[in-house]
Amino acid sequence: MRYLTVALAKGRLAELAMDIFISIGMDCSEMKEKTRKLIFTDEKNKMKFILVKASDVPTYVEYGAADIGIVGKDTILEEGRNLYEMVDLGFGKCRMCVCGPVDLKGRLDEIPELQAAATSPGIARRYFQDEKGQTIDIIKLNGSVELAPLVGLSDVIVDIVETGKTLKENGLDVLEPICGLSARLVVNKVSMKMERERIMNIVNSFRSITEEAQK
Ligand code: PRP
Repeated sequence: MRYLTVALAKGRLAELAMDIFISIGMDCSEMKEKTRKLIFTDEKNKMKFILVKASDVPTYVEYGAADIGIVGKDTILEEGRNLYEMVDLGFGKCRMCVCGPVDLKGRLDEIPELQAAATSPGIARRYFQDEKGQTIDIIKLNGSVELAPLVGLSDVIVDIVETGKTLKENGLDVLEPICGLSARLVVNKVSMKMERERIMNIVNSFRSITEEAQK
């Protein structure tokens, strides 16, 4: 039996996903220890777990370096990789929104050369250009996006809103919601053919656990 490899997006999603893997009988105990290791093996179940940067999870899965991935829907939309999205895990829930100063609410269409700062420029471009038909100048940032309108880098931002605390504390508001997001389980297309039974066992376990949690 060959190893099945699972790519986990480092951070909170990995922690929550690990708890589910443990509850279905996988041994991820080594990952719970504070270590700088990036690859962990469960010999008994012939599983490997790798910790990767969130935006790289779809890449590992598309190329088959990982059979399964756990990653946010925003990353899946942004990366546009060729893979199967199998389960909505129901955690890591948040929204992708256009945000900015409240006086721009309802007025975005009137601004001829709107500038938007975003960590996910693909999602921002698709929303403004394809859905709304509005020309927009997108500025890619890597974090602390809320700063951009405060210092005049952009008019608005396209960013993740979870509790809304970051917006509030920086005097910004949701102007237009784009879509809901949460963690997803994704699968490599070839692995799904070659290792269908083992992968579907994991998929079905994740499905029933997440359905139970949402009751
Ligand atoms: C994310 C996001 C917002 C914040 C939203 O940033 O980009 O800034 O969380 O959460 P809230 O609505 O609960 O305040 P993250 O903490 O990942 O850090 P970053 O700004 O470095 O991307």
